[in-house]
Amino acid sequence: MSGTLRVLRIASLSVAALLFTSVAYFAFGALSRDTPSVVQGTTHESLSRESCVECHAPIAAEWRESYHFLSVAGPFWKRIRDRSFDRLFERLRVPCMNCHAPANILDLPPGQHPVERADAPELGVDCVSCHVSDRGILGPSGEGGGAHEATEDRRFRDPVMATTMLCAACHDEPSEHARTVESWRSTQFAKDGVTCLHCHMPEVEAPAVTGGPKRLRRSHSFIADKDPRMLRGALNASITIVSETREAMVRITNDRMGHSFPASGMNSLIVEVAVHDESERAVTTVRRSFGTRELIPGYLDFWPFAEISKIPYGESREMTVELPTGHGVVSAEFRYRDWFALRDRDLTFARIEKAY
Ligand code: HEC
Ligand code: HEC
Ligand code: HEC
Ligand code: HEC
Ligand code: HEC
Repeated sequence: MSGTLRVLRIASLSVAALLFTSVAYFAFGALSRDTPSVVQGTTHESLSRESCVECHAPIAAEWRESYHFLSVAGPFWKRIRDRSFDRLFERLRVPCMNCHAPANILDLPPGQHPVERADAPELGVDCVSCHVSDRGILGPSGEGGGAHEATEDRRFRDPVMATTMLCAACHDEPSEHARTVESWRSTQFAKDGVTCLHCHMPEVEAPAVTGGPKRLRRSHSFIADKDPRMLRGALNASITIVSETREAMVRITNDRMGHSFPASGMNSLIVEVAVHDESERAVTTVRRSFGTRELIPGYLDFWPFAEISKIPYGESREMTVELPTGHGVVSAEFRYRDWFALRDRDLTFARIEKAY
């Protein structure tokens, strides 16, 4: 009896010591950081943030659907604010809004993240965040159509420079949260000059200003994993029946995405393989998830607290199931799960099947 008690006492002391160490570790981390700065955003000398949206209504309509606008006003941050996580982050001095509502990205030294802005943070990553610098409005052509001055800038004209100098200001973080540009650099796409813009800002034939002429320009809706067509188009999956061993193999290859699959953050790809017999009864169901699984959900998304099983670019993953005797069908269903489980349902975007 006393032996059991001693073991219990030692166990609870160890747990307390471990808890104390982790609290001390996080407190030290938080206190040794500076409070993130919040500054007035760089704005145009005569045009307001709202005026860009009014004149450029066709582009603004695309942008409003994007997670650049929704990066503060969208469901994610609403949930974070509702649970007061934003105040917790503030206390812990973790910068968040610097990328989600940036003051200026164009005048940053390369490799530096932006600073949080004080004015209109609810607009998230807006027109001014990306286009207005200390030198005024910058763009790909230097044409302001008589409405305003504009300066041609290579970071807009050349998609590779846009990727490594504009997108990278926020999408190239060292943590799993957003290390997409780094992941893109080693792909065949990067070698061939296929950039973030080619996939996420596809060309559309549309006006750039209200009442303006239609012409070819890049879309500002920044489509990604919320678009099932984009997910379907990037999926490379097949089913092979291996008759000798009576097995079915589902192979998923990441060679149509410009980075790992899922890209970054905490999203996951869920694959469900099912074997149906002649009477369409499900005999076996196997499910696997590719992404980042947090061992303490919601907080620690880095090693050793997270298990990362994303499919890197250029690699394949296989799932093998045994087949029963007789004939039937093997199917694979592909679902995408958003981090934070904020969308109540997973997005089922593709299904393939093969008879055996
Ligand atoms: C270095 C820039 C940067 C910082 C700092 C940053 N984020 Fe993000 N965040 C991003 C980018 C870029 C994305 C886009 C999605 C991705 O790549 O995962 C994103 C996406 C998100 C998402 C949505 C994930 C999804 O499923 O689309 C949430 C929620 C989020 N961030 C919360 C936070 C919180 C909370 C903090 C502070 C602890 C923070 N971010 C700090 C850049 C940043
Ligand atoms: C995340 C950064 C980002 C945001 C936010 C953004 N843009 Fe852009 N914009 C770009 C990039 C990059 C290009 C260059 C695309 C190309 O042509 O290769 C561009 C191009 C343009 C062009 C030139 C189109 C053409 O082909 O002539 C206009 C006009 C423009 N943006 C206006 C806006 C307006 C208005 C908003 C706000 C509603 C906005 N942008 C928001 C990054 C951004
Ligand atoms: C009074 C209307 C009006 C307002 C306000 C306005 N724009 Fe423009 N903008 C235009 C017109 C017209 C063009 C030329 C469009 C074209 O070439 O089709 C243009 C072109 C641009 C371009 C392309 C420049 C290039 O180099 O290719 C960018 C970027 C841009 N505007 C951003 C902005 C931003 C950011 C704001 C807000 C600070 C803004 N605009 C406010 C009318 C306006
Ligand atoms: C100022 C920081 C910043 C810059 C610069 C930036 N982004 Fe983002 N981007 C974000 C944040 C923050 C999010 C995530 C919003 C969220 O989900 O809450 C995001 C989201 C996205 C998404 C949508 C992801 C989704 O979940 O739907 C795509 C695609 C994207 N960015 C591409 C780009 C490209 C391409 C560029 C360069 C032209 C770029 N971004 C420049 C901060 C930035
Ligand atoms: C060859 C096309 C392609 C290229 C190039 C590409 N992407 Fe993607 N991206 C996709 C597809 C498809 C998805 C949706 C599946 C996924 O999440 O991986 C996606 C998803 C995303 C997401 C949202 C998903 C998440 O997990 O947060 C972001 C953010 C993103 N890409 C940013 C970028 C950036 C930044 C670049 C440039 C460095 C880039 N992408 C280059 C095809 C591409």
